[in-house]
Order: sequence, then structure tokens, then C-alpha cells
Amino acid sequence: MTPRRILAAIVSAYLLLSPPARAQETTKSFDLIAWNSGKFIYGVDYYPEAWNEDQWEKDAAMMQAAGINFVRLAEFAWVKLEPREGKFDFDWLDRALKVLNAHGIKAVLGTPTCSPPAWLYARYPDVAAMDENGVRYRYGSRRNYCLHNPNFIAATERIVTAMADHYKNHPGVQGWQIDNELGDPECFDAVSQAAFHKWCQKKYKTLEALNKAWGTVFWGHTYQTWSEIPLPWNTLGKAHNPSLALDFHRFHSDSTHDYLKVQTTILRRLAPAKAITHNEMGLFDHIDYSDLNRSLDFVAWDNYPMFGKDYASYFGSGLGHDLMRGSKNNQNFMVMEQQGGLPGWSVFWGRQAPPGLYRVWAYQSVAHGADGVCYFRWRTSRYGTEQYWQGILDQDSYANQRYKIVAQTGKELSQLTDVLHGSRVVSPAALLVSPDSRWAFHIQPLVESFDYNHQLHLYYDAFRRLGINVDVLFPQSDFTPYKIIVAPSLFVLDKPLADKLAKFARDGGILILTYRSGVKDEHNVVTDLTLPGPLAELAGVAIHDFDPQINQEQAVVTTDGTSISAHTWFDILDPTTADTVLTYGKGYYAGKAALTRNRVGNGMVYYVGTDLAQEYYVQGIKAVAERLGIPLGLSIPEGVEAAVREKEGMKILFLLNYTDQPQKVSLGQSGHNALSGEAEPEEIQLAPFDVKVLTTP
Ligand code: GAL
Repeated sequence: MTPRRILAAIVSAYLLLSPPARAQETTKSFDLIAWNSGKFIYGVDYYPEAWNEDQWEKDAAMMQAAGINFVRLAEFAWVKLEPREGKFDFDWLDRALKVLNAHGIKAVLGTPTCSPPAWLYARYPDVAAMDENGVRYRYGSRRNYCLHNPNFIAATERIVTAMADHYKNHPGVQGWQIDNELGDPECFDAVSQAAFHKWCQKKYKTLEALNKAWGTVFWGHTYQTWSEIPLPWNTLGKAHNPSLALDFHRFHSDSTHDYLKVQTTILRRLAPAKAITHNEMGLFDHIDYSDLNRSLDFVAWDNYPMFGKDYASYFGSGLGHDLMRGSKNNQNFMVMEQQGGLPGWSVFWGRQAPPGLYRVWAYQSVAHGADGVCYFRWRTSRYGTEQYWQGILDQDSYANQRYKIVAQTGKELSQLTDVLHGSRVVSPAALLVSPDSRWAFHIQPLVESFDYNHQLHLYYDAFRRLGINVDVLFPQSDFTPYKIIVAPSLFVLDKPLADKLAKFARDGGILILTYRSGVKDEHNVVTDLTLPGPLAELAGVAIHDFDPQINQEQAVVTTDGTSISAHTWFDILDPTTADTVLTYGKGYYAGKAALTRNRVGNGMVYYVGTDLAQEYYVQGIKAVAERLGIPLGLSIPEGVEAAVREKEGMKILFLLNYTDQPQKVSLGQSGHNALSGEAEPEEIQLAPFDVKVLTTP
């Protein structure tokens, strides 16, 4: 045992023996590797309840041989655990845990509330959510319960209490995953409406304040009693007040957090030594993860890179990882469902990935800050909706190529544990995500082709192509460690955030703002300031006209006369103190500014009035990074990713080849191969779908 492992073992023994009293809201950093007895978490999502018991021992032995030391269990097993109201059966799960634990495999137990038993819906039909047309869902599928229903809350409390009580001292249970992929559905029944009224009352105190904030003078939608306030249900044309609709999004996010807290409160009270997480969904935006995650010990998420057909496009999962990390102060996280096979439900959803790619994807998770990778699922189901959603093994349990790759990766990650332990992703650049703006764009999309996540990607992909690490910030994050912050389309903006951005720029930061920023106040009401509203002085521009892109083309012209295609939206900029960098090339506003630069204090604010061709972002960010002295990553070929984790005195460089071709990367210095222990030449050779992990000083 290395000294670090001994320390980790002591820490984890301490955690088990003397449970720290954790507050309900936890933001302290959580050491995942120490928590897992000093081992890199390498796991599978396993459903022993769906297989004959005589299979369990064979499974556990096969898992152990592949380096698996962790499983997630039981998140859909409510009816097995509580077959009748108030009657519990943990025997089968105890036996499964015994088999797994004997093979050195520890577990996180899912609280099974995502998939309630049929008896619950039969007895209390209003446990099911009601859709926006007033139709109540019926039993079937999963995740269709109503968050506000008192019978559902009571049933949740009962099963969670029973589980916590039964497993609170179980040494083979590390902690809990709450529910499964919280987020939907919104419920539109009378109970939820009453809950919304209560939420509004708490926020606005008086109806007068609410009417004023929402501008209910429009169409005479003024409320004289709280009970008159509607939900944004399906009315003619779904024409709801955007202010009400934004508050409903906030209410749903808060209600989801409250529901999570119903569970975390019980678990922390009864089983304070066990850690709590939830499996989240990356760029999914119906809830504000940066708020929800204050109640978790660590973040976990479900990463399925292979929805597209393009193997080499690694940016989607990359941004998902970085956003998840950013949603809890940049702490390392784990992947609770890492793609382990071909996705599909009633049809297969993509092409089969070459086996080596599963290894590259697992390393990508690690490179972006995961201290644990758990594959979905151990074996493809024989039953139900997911017969086409492959696990690592297929139904016949044959040790296929995916199993072999998973086993190779497991061996390697276990070998890398000491190197990885304590290292984190450090980034000079960050993207600011505004949950309010994302919701406001759901309510009123700008134009059909506008997509907030695409805006993030325009900048994110450019940074990543240049090998520059990127963090994701939320309005309450600390902005001070960064040299560049890109804040795309800050549509809904309050004064504190505008002031925080101004301070960041004045103190020497580079701030990149983009079109449709500063348009709305925090109530989703349009500002009466000249656009970009509270950001006008900071950006040094005034916007008196704009042009949504609908079936039209636009171009912008650079100083050397080159023309670049522009699309989606055109803010027509009148510089007040800013310099013009790019101008529009066509139509009645040809020659007007499209992109400006304004010096502010020690920093600089760019305002990008439109969407440009992707190459321009790479060039533009490269120029800014060079000017700031931000070391550009390596010069990497298309389809290869370079990402870095670091700790005192050491950088850990991951080179990931997503292509079926050999690739070369010039390091510019010699490196040390963290797996083979050997020196690597300056020019690194990567085989197709291969990975190198190098350490450099
Ligand atoms: C996830 C979900 C899993 C499984 C998987 C494949 O979103 O959490 O339970 O359904 O997708 O469909």
C-alpha cells in the first residue's frame, strides 16, 4: 500500500466510524476516491432482481475480474422492496449485497421513487401527474408522479425511511442515489396550483407586488385573489404571460429540490455516515442543477456520448462533464451511467461504436474530472422497454469485446488511482450559464434556429479545439479565477449579475457578450433602457435595431475585407465607446458594427451581435488567448482531444483519439507515460481509438 492509499483507508474508516454531522445543504468538497476505500470508482448499474439468483455469483466474479469495485442497485425496485403498503422485504437485496461485497464490490442504493408500484397508483390515482391539458397520466412507464401530491410524499417518506433504517450501518453500502434523473414532469393539477400560489405568496408577499412585477396590466390579466393565478396550462395558443411562465419554471425547479430534500433529510437523519448523490443529465435544463446540488455531497451524471453518428465529435459529452462539474463549485464528480453499449428503446438509436471507443469515452470522463465511472448497465435487459438498450454484456452473458475493453480500462484506472487522486481540472476560460435565460428562451425562442446550448457550443468547441480547458459557471459562482468569461445571450439579467460581470472586466478579465443580452429584467419583463440594457455601458454599444434571421442570409466583413457568413440573429450595434471589429456586409445596415471591443478598466468587453461560422471562433479565441498569454494546448488534429488535470507539481495530460486512424500529436517536450512508466518522445503516436495518459511537470 502506498502512503496515499493508507491515508485514504484511514480517512474512509474514519468516515464510517465517526459520521460527520453534515448540514442539509452541503458544499464542502467530497473526496470520492477516499470514500471508495481509496480506489478509483469503477462500477456497473446492476439489476440483480431481474436475474435468477444462481446468476449473481457468476456475475460478481466476472465483475471482479473486470476490475469492478462498485455497483448502483435498486433504483427501480420499489415494488420488490415494499410489495404491499408498509410491508417491506429487504432479504433479496441483502443477499445480493452479500454476494457482491464478497467480491470487493460496494454499492450505492437508489431510492426507488422514480418507478412507484402499481398498488400505489391503484390506491391513490392522483399520485400521477396531470399534464398541461388537464389529463392525468395513468400507471405505466416511470417518472410520471406528481411532486406535490401528499400521498406520494407520504409513500416516499415511508420507503426512504425503511431503506435508510435497514442499511444505515451496512458496511457494503456506501451511500444513496436519490430517485433517478429528476426533472420532469411538471404537474398541472389543483394541488400543484395551490403549491404555486404558496410559492408566489412567499416570493411577492402581496398581490400588488406580483401584478406589478408580472405586468398583468397586459390583456387585463390582473389578479385580485391568489387563487385566480393560473398555471401555464394549455390555453388557446398557449399565450401565457412570460413572467408567470418564468416563475413557473423556477417553481418547478424549487419543487424538485424540495422533493429531493424530503429524501435527503431522512437519509441524513438516519444514516449520517453515508453520502448522497443524484444521477443528473448534463445539459438538461428543466431544473437548475447549481441550486439542487447544494443538497448533495457530490455530483453524478449519466453520460451517453453516442447519440450522434459522428464518432469524432466529442464536444457534447465534454460540455456535459464540464457543466456538471461547474454545477457544484468545480468539484470532481462521478459518472453514474456511462454508455456501455448501443442505445435504443423500441428501435436502435445509432450505430454500434467500435469497442475501443468505450475506453476512450471512459477516459474522457476522467479527463474532465470524473473520479468514478459506472457503466449502464451490466447486462442488457431481457424484459421491458430497454431490450434494445445494450449493457456491457448481452443477455447471453458472453464475455464480448465490450467486456474485454471494460476490463482493460478497469485495470488501467486502478493503476492510475494514485496519480489521479487529488488532481482537478483547472481552466483559464469559462462559460457562464444563466438558468433564467435558458428558461426564458424556452418560453419565447428567438427564432426557430436559435438554441441556447448551441450558443454555448460555438465558444466551447473553439476553446476545446485549441486544447484550452473550460469551466462552466452559474451566476452565483466565483468569477475571479478566470481570464476569459463567455456569457452567451444573457437574455434575463438582474443588476447583481450585471455588476459582477462589470467588476470582472474592470479587474482585468476578458468578457465576451453575445446578442440578445440585457433584454429582460429578472421578472422576464423587457427593460426600458437602451439595449443591451444594464450591459450597454460595459459593452460600449447601443442597439437601436435588430434583425431576426428568417429565411435570409447575412455576412460580416473583417478588417481585411474577408466575408464570413453570419446567421440566426443580427443585433445592429452603434458603438458609443467601443471599437468596431466586424461590420455587416448586406442590406440596409451594411457597414454597421456586428462585433465590437470595448476597453473597460484593466479588461476588455466584446459584444458579438450574431452567430458566425465556427472557424471564426477558433481564430478569434486563439488571438485573444495569445494576447493574454494563455498557453494554448497542443496543436491537435481533428478528432483528437487533449485535456489536462493537475495537482501540485504535476500535470496529467490525456490524449484521446476518437478516430479510426492513427494520429500524431507533437508534445513540444518529453512526457512520462503514466501507465507504462516509460518516457514518451516529443512526438506522440496514437493508434486508432487509443488513449495516452502522460504526466509532465
Ligand atoms: C437513462 C436512465 C436509465 C436508462 C438509460 C437508458 O436516462 O437513467 O434508467 O433508462 O437512460 O435508457
